[in-house]
Formats: sequence, structure tokens, C-alpha cells
Amino acid sequence: MSDEKANLHLRDATYDFDVIPANEGNHGINISPLRATSGAVTFDPGFANTAATKSSLTYVNGAEGMLRHRGYRIEDLAEHCTFLEVTYLLLMGELPSRKQLDAWTAEVRVHTLVNEEMKGFFDSFPRSAHPMAILSSATNAISTWYEAYYNPSDPEAVAESAKRLIAKMPTIAAWAYKKSIGQPYIYPRNDLTYVENFLHMMFGLPVEEMDIDPVIAKAMNVLLILHADHGQNASTATVRFVGSTQANLFASVAAGMNALWGPLHGGANQAVIEMLQAIHDDPDATTETYVARAKDKNDPFRLMGFGHRVYKSYDPRARILKGFADEVLSRSGVDDPLMEIANKLEQVALEDDYFVSRNLYPNVDFYSGIIFRALGFPSRMFTVLFALGRLPGWIANWKEMHEDPTTRISRPRQIYIGERTRDFVFIEDR
Ligand code: SDX
Repeated sequence: MSDEKANLHLRDATYDFDVIPANEGNHGINISPLRATSGAVTFDPGFANTAATKSSLTYVNGAEGMLRHRGYRIEDLAEHCTFLEVTYLLLMGELPSRKQLDAWTAEVRVHTLVNEEMKGFFDSFPRSAHPMAILSSATNAISTWYEAYYNPSDPEAVAESAKRLIAKMPTIAAWAYKKSIGQPYIYPRNDLTYVENFLHMMFGLPVEEMDIDPVIAKAMNVLLILHADHGQNASTATVRFVGSTQANLFASVAAGMNALWGPLHGGANQAVIEMLQAIHDDPDATTETYVARAKDKNDPFRLMGFGHRVYKSYDPRARILKGFADEVLSRSGVDDPLMEIANKLEQVALEDDYFVSRNLYPNVDFYSGIIFRALGFPSRMFTVLFALGRLPGWIANWKEMHEDPTTRISRPRQIYIGERTRDFVFIEDR
């Protein structure tokens, strides 16, 4: 803690607060004594100026468009690591040695099956069910086999819960998809890598062998890494919030999945494709008309995949994905007209003062959907893929919170602007 102080002058009194220095990015003002000393609370809708925690996991520099996990650049991790390697880094704090990675991979590999009774669970959903509804429900459902690991204060129990979530989520995601298309559930194969196994369960059939294209597997690996963690975004903050009540890791992650589903957050990747498809299908639409709609305050339409609470420059993940989209499209032989529309939309927006003056750039969701589509995923699975990638980030944040001795139950205050106390009125007199 530094000796630096922040002073607040309020109603003829001055209050001093400690400054909390950051290794990178914004330093903090410790306002913990504020209400007790001044009787006032802060007001910060959307928590745009409020740090809810200290964290060592991920640093996002919005001005510079930088993203690092435990100090390592996202560009390096995406190019050189497997997704399980990045998962290890987030959970353990260091990149694993070859021996550590092999052990971690083997530990995860033996937990990929879900209990056979879960088939009845999947079958209970209508075929039309959105896979995000199935994913969050199934996450709670599988926890009923692991009540022995619910205790957040037991590091062994937390490690077991984390392993099972990471191992089984691809199986749950793939079975949710198979359910939606009426195909048989494909069992995991432990001779495949994490990503190959997921693709096998997603697109394999019990009647024939499936060849997995290494370029497609590499693309999936990069996509999961790019979604692995991102500071205190809405879904991660939800996981921490729910976890702060001592709820188990499965329940906390399921809550995070539901937060991610919103179109302003992880649901944006599906909304982007639906937006691009609408532009493509509308003979009278041009990218200019849609940009004009996005700027019109009377029109609720927003340019999905654009803007970010933190990035006020190009999202580094979008930059990587944009380059990757061309490679995946050419490899998969897909000539997707939506890619051309996306490029044109980006070009028009980035030359328009409305977007430039508000620092609105493409975010991770703008190009990810085009790649997911080229890989053969339906748009309703896109947010599920985001959740698969974000899972280690949610777990690492939940774990970091429980390892912090200063953690308290999250319980924000409010500024009450309702009626002052008034006498009760009996119904006869109303
Ligand atoms: C993710 O936080 C994370 O880290 C999230 C994420 C992660 O990895 O976890 O990065 C993943 O969620 C990416 C974001 C995906 N969402 C979208 O693409 C949906 C479209 N984007 C927006 O709805 C918006 O930009 C948000 C939600 C992403 C950010 O909202 P903010 O920070 O609250 O910004 P704002 O709504 O206050 O916007 C500031 C201004 C407003 O105009 P003015 O009131 O100043 O006139 O910019 C405008 C907004 O109207 N604006 C947009 C816009 N985004 C912001 N106008 C048109 N189209 C948009 N997309």
C-alpha cells in the first residue's frame, strides 16, 4: 500500500482515502471507509469506474488495445499454446512445463464423460430449446453428482470441481447441439485432443469415422483461447457475485452463463450474424443505411459487434480473428457473403465521426461468428462456444476470489429516491 492519499471534500468536511497502486492500468482509491465516515455512498451505474476486486489474472489496456493473461500477450498465447495450456496458466499462474501440461491434459481427459442419466436430462428439453438454456441448466445438473466438492473453502474440492467442469463442458455443449438436430449423442474419445474431441462430438456420427481437419482444430483452439478471460466483464462479475455467497462453483458458473447469454455481452456473436444476414437478405439495405440506423437515437438498433466498455481502440481479439477469418474461409472453401458485408460495415463505421468520436471499434464478437459459421456451427451455438472459451476465466476468477482473505459477500448500496415514510391506507379508503 502506498502513502498516497485521495481527498474528498463534502459538505464542509474533508475525507482522506488510501490510494491502491496498480502494477498496470488504473490505480484505485480505497473508499471502504466512505459511508462510515461521510454518510455518503458512491454512484456509478454499470460500475464503469468501480473496481470490485484486485486481480492478477488478466490485464486489458483499452486505450492501447492490449490483452494479457498473467502477463503474457494474447497474440503469443493464441499462436503458441493449446487451450488447456492457457487454462492451466489462468488457474495455476504459470505456463506449464511439458510434464505439467501432459499431466493436466491427462487429468482432464479422464473426466470427459457425463453420467448416463444425463441423457434423460437432455431428452427432457424440446428440440427447439436454445443451447444456452441447456448449457446453464446442465451445468447445475451435473453438480448433483459432485456435492462432495461443493465447499469453496476446500482447495481439493475446488480443484475437483474445476476439472470436471473443464472436462465435461465440451460434452454438454456437443450433446445440446446433437439434441437440437435429432442426432445421436457422440461419446467423447480420450485419444483425441481437447479441441479435436469437441469437434468429434459435435460433428461426428456413430455410423462412420470422422476425419478432423487440423486447420479447423487449430482455428477452434485459437477461438477458445481468445475467449478465455477478460477481466471483470458482466459474466465474470456475476460468477464472482454469486460465488461470494459461498455458492458452489457449478452454481456460480451457471449464473455466469446466463449473464453471458445477453446480446450486449456474449450473445452479441449470434446477434452479429443475424444483423449481417438481415443486411444480406434485405434488397433495399446497404451498409450505409444500417450505420445510419445505429446512429439514430430513435432507433433501438445498435451495430452489434461494435463498441466496448474497456476497449476504446481495436479489440486485439477482433484483429486476430479478422485475419483468421480469411484463412478459415479459404480453407473450408466457404465463400461467405457476410464476410464482405462485415468488412464493408467496418470500413464505413470506422470512417464515420459518430463511431470515431465514441471510440467504437469492432470487438471480439464482430468476426467470431463468421468463423464459427465457416466451421459449421449454427448461430445459436455461438454463445455456447464463447462460454466454452470463457469457462477457465470464470473458474480462475472464482478461485482467486476465494483465495483472497479480504473477500466479503457482495452487497452493493443504493441511493433511495422513492416515497418518504407515509401512513398506511386501508383498501376501503383507497
Ligand atoms: C463482450 O466487458 C467485456 O470484456 C465483454 C467482452 C468479454 O470478453 O467478456 O469483451 C465480450 O461482451 C463484447 C461486447 C459485445 N456486445 C456488442 O457488440 C453489443 C453492441 N455494443 C454495445 O451495446 C456497447 O458498445 C457495449 C454494451 C459493448 C458497451 O456499452 P457501454 O460501455 O455501456 O457504452 P454505451 O452504451 O454507454 O455507449 C457509449 C455511446 C452511446 O452513445 P451516446 O449516449 O454517447 O450518444 O456509444 C454508443 C451509445 O449509444 N454505442 C453504440 C454502440 N455501442 C455504443 N452505438 C451504436 N452501435 C453500437 N454498437
